[in-house]
Amino acid sequence: MSLDHAATKPHERLAAALTDDMAAVNAMIAARMASEHAPRIPEVTAHLVNAGGKRLRPMLTLAAARLCGYDGPYHIHLAATVEFIHTATLLHDDVVDESDKRRGRPTANLLWDNTSSVLVGDYLFARSFQLMVETGNLRVLDILANAAATIAEGEVLQMTAARNTRTTEDTYLKVVRGKTAALFSAATQVGGVIAAAPEDQVAALFAYGDALGIAFQIVDDLLDWQGDAGIGKNTGDDFREGKMTLPVIRAIAAGDEGERAFWVRTLEKRSQEAADLDHARDLLARHGTLDSTRADALMWAAQAKASLDALPDAPIRTMLADLADYVVARLV
Ligand code: IPE
Ligand code: IPE
Ligand code: MG
Ligand code: MG
Repeated sequence: MSLDHAATKPHERLAAALTDDMAAVNAMIAARMASEHAPRIPEVTAHLVNAGGKRLRPMLTLAAARLCGYDGPYHIHLAATVEFIHTATLLHDDVVDESDKRRGRPTANLLWDNTSSVLVGDYLFARSFQLMVETGNLRVLDILANAAATIAEGEVLQMTAARNTRTTEDTYLKVVRGKTAALFSAATQVGGVIAAAPEDQVAALFAYGDALGIAFQIVDDLLDWQGDAGIGKNTGDDFREGKMTLPVIRAIAAGDEGERAFWVRTLEKRSQEAADLDHARDLLARHGTLDSTRADALMWAAQAKASLDALPDAPIRTMLADLADYVVARLV
């Protein structure tokens, strides 16, 4: 692959800069997804892991550790931990969301069943904890254990807010920070901690991951409305499931009585007809909420980039800044 700046995406440039580390992470993932007694575990895991995925979160850990001058072995364990947690949450997420497509493939819950996805997800969570214990660093354990709890909290909050047309932007932000940004910020923060970076740098890494994760999820929610087959997931799922994402929350707030009745019928009363998804798209367009949501994503990406100022000025820092731009640019 060409490393020409213009020809590659920021996450590909990061992957190229971290080739040896990423190879070690992938080898560790392959080794640790094995199971002596239950072949269903590596079958289900390999189906998802071998489908690729951007490996964004482990790259963030590796990049943070390298940026802070780390040259020990444990950033590999931490990066693998983070990707295992991510993989476990995806298995669980596709069950709760009843999704049938992930990374361009049928989901594990569709190919096998919900039980397999839940139990293999649990196994991967437990494996991730084994991996991080091997670092012998209590502070990274604290950060990652908190992140795992916060992700679950975000998912539960999202579930209770679903189909509630009075959900506020504040609740949306809490959901996004929990279910997505918590793992991004833990991924970057533990990279700094394992490198024994100064506290201001650790704080900057946390702030970068938090803002990047929020921008990332906002864009993921926009892609559910505007994406195409290239994203490897189905679009329109959020409307069908009554997920209260930012474009919808804003369209409801700006809508008149008739529009409100439409949202109550389709989201709260779950009564949807074939033409409703297109009508919902029209309402978002009428109130410009896809554009205003994109503006929020840009704001969070800018905030992520600004957080990098406190970190050493090195090529990896530039790649992290570019990554923040790319996370929003993947919309176009
Ligand atoms: C998907 O994350 C889950 C969200 C937080 C939106 P990614 O888009 O990073 O998934 P993969 O790992 O690249 O498939
Ligand atoms: C992803 O949430 C967050 C977690 C996996 C915890 P979504 O449900 O919005 O993500 P996709 O769109 O299925 O990847
Ligand atoms: Mg989902
Ligand atoms: Mg979900």
